Amino acid sequence: MAKIIDGKMISQQIKDELKEKVESLKEQGKTGALAVIQVGEDPASSVYVRNKKNACAYIGIESLAYELPGETTEEELLGLIEELNGKERVRGILVQLPLPEHICEDKVIQAISPDKDVDGFHPQSVGAMTIGQPGFLSCTPAGIIQLLKRSGVEIAGKHCVIIGRSNIVGKPMALLMLRENATVTITHSKTKNLSELCKQADILIVAMGKPQFVGAEYVKEGAVVIDVGIHRDENNKLCGDVKYAEVEPIASAITPVPGGVGPMTIAMLMNNCVQSIEEG
Ligand code: GUN
Repeated sequence: MAKIIDGKMISQQIKDELKEKVESLKEQGKTGALAVIQVGEDPASSVYVRNKKNACAYIGIESLAYELPGETTEEELLGLIEELNGKERVRGILVQLPLPEHICEDKVIQAISPDKDVDGFHPQSVGAMTIGQPGFLSCTPAGIIQLLKRSGVEIAGKHCVIIGRSNIVGKPMALLMLRENATVTITHSKTKNLSELCKQADILIVAMGKPQFVGAEYVKEGAVVIDVGIHRDENNKLCGDVKYAEVEPIASAITPVPGGVGPMTIAMLMNNCVQSIEEG
């Protein structure tokens, strides 16, 4: 029987710690707002944006919502970001992804001032993380590090295999695990002998975006399994990239979907916002 890594509980602990910190920063006269920008009405994005605004309200940070129509031009969006970059009160700028196809995501990410890049997506933030300099960490990977540490999973010296090489999860995850002194293998859709490689992992992090793909044949007895995927199955129930029922009996610890990695992303976004208010 695996230990269930409870992301809901750990994220709540983090938000409670941040709420206290926000109160003490207020006493020092340090406050600020997070600007949350959504372009269009993608239903999944609307849920994420609502959860982010609720988290701000919970920890006591002001959120400024910019809900722009799907036809918004790239120029208009870049104009808004420039305006927000110049506002002292705005300590964080978050543009919910994905953006409509006519807007270049890279251009938008690069337009955000690095000292307000609370998503940690700007090339300067990624570069700083790579060489261990101060800056905002990518929220989902930073959340996974917290999940592991707060669940008592030792990372140093362990073999961590990551499935997925996205800019948002796989690549920054590898860098953060390396920073924690793990031995890291990154795998992806072109990797040969994927299950054999995964079976060598002490810590297996699955961020491939394929519903219920990873079964028992990918997992070593006693491994720690972190599932970053979130999908709806044929019965419209939420599921991850991992076949949970099959993997759970083999693993020593595992994250559920929902209630594993998902809530941690928002907790770490809040952490970055508080860091920005503290530094501003
Ligand atoms: N879309 C999916 N995940 C994220 C995230 O962490 N931040 C933003 N801005 N958009 C996303």
